[in-house]
Amino acid sequence: MAKKHRDFPADFLWGASTSAYQVEGASLEDGKGPSVQDIKVIPEGTPDFKVASDQYHHYKEDIKLMAEMGFKTYRFSISWSRLIPEGTGAVNPKGIEYYNNLIDECLKYNIQPLVTMYHFDLPAAIQAKGGWGNRDTIDAFVNFAKVMFENFGDRAKLWLTINEQNMLTLAGPIIGTFDPTGVENVIKELYQQNHYMMVAQAKAMALCHEMVPGGKIGPAPNISCVYPASCNPADITAAETFSAIRNWFYFDMATAGIYNHQVWSYLEAHDALPEIAPGDMEILASGHPDFLAFNYYSTATVAAFPEDEEYDPNAPVDQQKNGGEPGYFKPVPNKNLLKTEWGWEIDPIGFRNTLNQVYSRYRLPIIITENGLGAHDKLEEDGTIRDDYRIEYLQRHIEQMQLAIDDGVQMMGYCPWSAVDLISTHEGFDKRYGFIYVNRGNFDLKDLRRIPKKSFYWYKKVIATNGKDLENNL
Ligand code: BG6
Repeated sequence: MAKKHRDFPADFLWGASTSAYQVEGASLEDGKGPSVQDIKVIPEGTPDFKVASDQYHHYKEDIKLMAEMGFKTYRFSISWSRLIPEGTGAVNPKGIEYYNNLIDECLKYNIQPLVTMYHFDLPAAIQAKGGWGNRDTIDAFVNFAKVMFENFGDRAKLWLTINEQNMLTLAGPIIGTFDPTGVENVIKELYQQNHYMMVAQAKAMALCHEMVPGGKIGPAPNISCVYPASCNPADITAAETFSAIRNWFYFDMATAGIYNHQVWSYLEAHDALPEIAPGDMEILASGHPDFLAFNYYSTATVAAFPEDEEYDPNAPVDQQKNGGEPGYFKPVPNKNLLKTEWGWEIDPIGFRNTLNQVYSRYRLPIIITENGLGAHDKLEEDGTIRDDYRIEYLQRHIEQMQLAIDDGVQMMGYCPWSAVDLISTHEGFDKRYGFIYVNRGNFDLKDLRRIPKKSFYWYKKVIATNGKDLENNL
């Protein structure tokens, strides 16, 4: 018998996401200081972040288009070095003004701002002092949080702490936030940084509750369920271990302030236990999220690590690219799944599985802060962008989110990546994600015109029907 679907909640937050350094441009304009993204070595063949999608100068137009799609929320991040150019000290009035305008523009259309405090763009001045490897960065982050809550907390009520903290730890060199050159014990250094971020996050969550009336805050890691390559119990151990390292560690810490026991044992074995100052564990236990946010693109599949295999101990653990960890797990391809043009496995059913796993463990409302398909979009001669492949990807994920709601998962919102085209973390403008096309190439800035893609009109219908009509019949 066909089961009747439960409705999406009436106040479900449909929207989409961006991040400051990937969308804003104006990278050194109006007093903004450089971030690590502005000083990193840019991958060959891809553009720098000076102009990006130029949302800094196009925000009114962008938000108007988001309103036309019917967005209930817009997830954007605040550039730390636009607000506080040196990371600490003087606040940039032009930075305050820009985010005030952005927030007010959202509210004009009843779009709730969902603000990421930090999305891969540490101020370069903080990096010069050791970045997240320096304990003082905790205080700098808390001060940054205070400035944001003071200035924007009267209107911005939904906050996210750190985007993909787990990827900063597992894949920092790829994102351009960690340089392993000359570091003796890479795992130790990365997990020390991670510890400081955890403490900073807990303090920011507590501060949000203190300073923002009615404010809600949560972490935003990248979460995906981990499959064992077979039903061999050794593969299952590998999957459970990798899931602890990749996923649960971050939510266990955010929700309960505890170090996941499998991660602790893994760090011990690598001589990589973090230094924990007196009082840290109390701080970690004092921050409580109101919801859990996570980014979901694909799942991971792992096998037990073959005993006779060579291994590079300095390779960071990265679900997509690394060779695994001897004694723990080895990533393997999942033959059941198709891949994107960039080799990312597509797993809509895994989305439902992941939602259920997260909800069973933590019982907090969930908002998806990223999910989407990076593709080479083409602007046709008739001025259209027919991104049916993106519609299909999103459609299949929303269908599974519906099934997760039927399962009883408490869903709060869905914000695919990305609201408008922007610069990919390391593939430039070749890899687009947006509902709104931005007319520029990697090096030819053209006119930066905004053009709704076919997915724009499809998503508008999805939102208008609160997720009931997912058909691609436009
Ligand atoms: C997430 C990040 O990891 O994935 C985004 O939070 C990023 O910043 C997105 O853009 C897609 O990754 P990529 O490498 O295709 O840009």
